Amino acid sequence: MNAFSFGISTKVVFGRDVVKNLAPICKDKGFTKILVITGRTSTKKSPHLQALLEQLEQAGIQVQLFSEVEADPSVETVEQGVCILQEFQADAMIAFGGGSPMDAAKSINMVNANGGSIRDYLYGRRTITKNGIPLICIPTTAGTGSEVTAAAVTTDKQNQQKIGVSHELMMPLLAIVDPVIHTSMPSGVTAATGIDALTHAIEAYVAVRANPITDGLALQAMKLIGSNLLTAYSHGDDLEARSNMALASLMAGAAFTNAGLGAVHGIAHPIGAQFGISHGVANGIMLPYVLDYYWQAGNEKLRDVAVALGEDIYQLPDKEAQRRAIVAVNTLKKDLAIPATLADVQIPADALECICADAATYRLLANSPRQLAIDDLRIIVANAFGNHY
Ligand SMILES: [Fe+2]
Repeated sequence: MNAFSFGISTKVVFGRDVVKNLAPICKDKGFTKILVITGRTSTKKSPHLQALLEQLEQAGIQVQLFSEVEADPSVETVEQGVCILQEFQADAMIAFGGGSPMDAAKSINMVNANGGSIRDYLYGRRTITKNGIPLICIPTTAGTGSEVTAAAVTTDKQNQQKIGVSHELMMPLLAIVDPVIHTSMPSGVTAATGIDALTHAIEAYVAVRANPITDGLALQAMKLIGSNLLTAYSHGDDLEARSNMALASLMAGAAFTNAGLGAVHGIAHPIGAQFGISHGVANGIMLPYVLDYYWQAGNEKLRDVAVALGEDIYQLPDKEAQRRAIVAVNTLKKDLAIPATLADVQIPADALECICADAATYRLLANSPRQLAIDDLRIIVANAFGNHY
């Protein structure tokens, strides 16, 4: 066995109605001024957010709400958040929402502690040396896993790029995961975020940097997604399915923050940044095409992915058993109404070069199990347009 390291510093509090204990937890930790960060659309109007704010105020905690985070948080939103944090002088932060508010909160906290602007970190001009203030993440979707990861993605609209920054000093202090909040998630969001979680689990599992602990987390996440995502999608109020998806998302996050991601995310980022396709849908489109390219070169781990997703591979030859991972992903995609190709989301075929040029710069591309040069990316993306290169 190869040497490896593993760690997540975030404490997890998981279960039905655990969010109701938020105020006592904050009081216990001595927090007196909390900046609450959330999205500008659905989470802003959520009754769960109102209940959370009331709970904190009734406990005598001063609260400031920053509810301007858009899907795929921009450089400008992060900078605005840094100004608000500096003015308010909070001693803790809470992120309530999906990946966007959680990532924005991590970036705001990191820039506030380390100085400069978020662009300095996106483009490697400054290094992270300081912890921010304590951050509590309360996910409202099951997909990103951001509540237990060191990563935050920011969109630079000037350059039409989505860039991730990851550092262990950006880990949230606490993740409060309450699946009751997830029961109001619309089916389209459930599908897109669920396929994002599946992408995290599979990319972490086949990654160059995978280790025995991330393998265990990733495989269990795949099993939970394979047996619960469709139920959560079609019966949103099924608390058992929601709980299992919340857990799967968290476990996949814990896996990928250690093992890293790969080419699916590398290609999905420019699709999101250049064409506004949601992160989950972009990953969902790309996942089978990237896996197929790995499969062609031979990838024994795909056999385990097939089994975890419920495929019957008994007595199948190895190569066919491995291919069943792609079959399982495509079946799930279809059942969740995730678009099959890039053409299905109206991306013009002449965008191929721009997508590949950006994907080739992805910081985790070399973590993919098959090493991918620009010509390999061209083949994968052409396939995802429904063409054959
Ligand atoms: Fe993702």
